[in-house]
Amino acid sequence: MDLHLRDKVAIIGGASQGIGFGVARTLAEEGVKVVITARREAALTAAAERIRKQTGAQVLSIPSDVRKAEDCERVVESTLKAFGRIDILVNNDGAPPLGKIEDFDDVAWQKAIEQNMFSVIRMVRKVVPHMRAGGYGRIINVTSVSTRQPLVGLGLSVATWAGVLAYAKTLSLELGSAGITVNTICPGRVDTGRLEVVVRKRAEQEGHDPDKMMREILDEVPVGRLGTPDDVAGMVALLVSPRGSFITGTAIQVDGGLLRGVY
Ligand SMILES: NC(=O)c1ccc[n+]([C@@H]2O[C@H](COP(=O)([O-])OP(=O)(O)OC[C@H]3O[C@@H](n4cnc5c(N)ncnc54)[C@H](OP(=O)(O)O)[C@@H]3O)[C@@H](O)[C@H]2O)c1
Repeated sequence: MDLHLRDKVAIIGGASQGIGFGVARTLAEEGVKVVITARREAALTAAAERIRKQTGAQVLSIPSDVRKAEDCERVVESTLKAFGRIDILVNNDGAPPLGKIEDFDDVAWQKAIEQNMFSVIRMVRKVVPHMRAGGYGRIINVTSVSTRQPLVGLGLSVATWAGVLAYAKTLSLELGSAGITVNTICPGRVDTGRLEVVVRKRAEQEGHDPDKMMREILDEVPVGRLGTPDDVAGMVALLVSPRGSFITGTAIQVDGGLLRGVY
């Protein structure tokens, strides 16, 4: 199936590894010009080189911190300078620290809001005028299945991403007539560096064996395996393509059936 993505321009956050990298490489395979961001320059440069080698696509890497307004602005300006347009924005990055809700002070909450919500708000505000001008736009937010089925220790993420879900739904109503769709992906357990960190931290906090916890996590997934970044990337590719033009305002789990709920 041709997704008709050739020569579209995409900004993909947190793309030096994990889910963001998988999304960037998949879009590059489809002929998209990709702009990838993350904080650590060496890892980001290496990721860009891997994508170029594997796909032959044009890749621009911009070291930046999604929590800083000036960095968000620079990413958008540099993308326009390099490619002249922006069609696709994938908001994806790390997440706030783990811990019990009662232990976090105002500073921790403010940082979490900055990372999970303000990053999305700022990037969207910057790119939408250019999407409007091009008559085409696709905005994807990567959150987590834990926004639907909260987990102990992930309160900062779950609560702030709940705001992103409501924001994205409202935005989809406001942008639909401009040819811009807005969707949220809720991954389940995806085999990345972050999953390892989260499991080890939870095991430590709850006094469990991390390897046993990992096996239990695997047992919970009906399809019997962890997800891969490419599992998430396939869904993103469809949503950001012209074939996804009738899908907006949704929050879609990519979780191997993990979510225990009817809706
Ligand atoms: N893996 C899972 O099982 C899973 C499940 C549900 C949801 N998620 C969510 O999906 C997203 C991606 O997860 P992942 O597993 O791919 O994580 P990952 O492997 O740890 O990758 C995170 C990426 O984001 C970048 N990043 C982190 N903080 C950043 C910041 N402040 N500004 C810019 N870039 C930043 C990292 O690079 P630098 O450190 O160099 O900045 C890296 O490229 C996260 O929000 C995560 O919570 C993951």
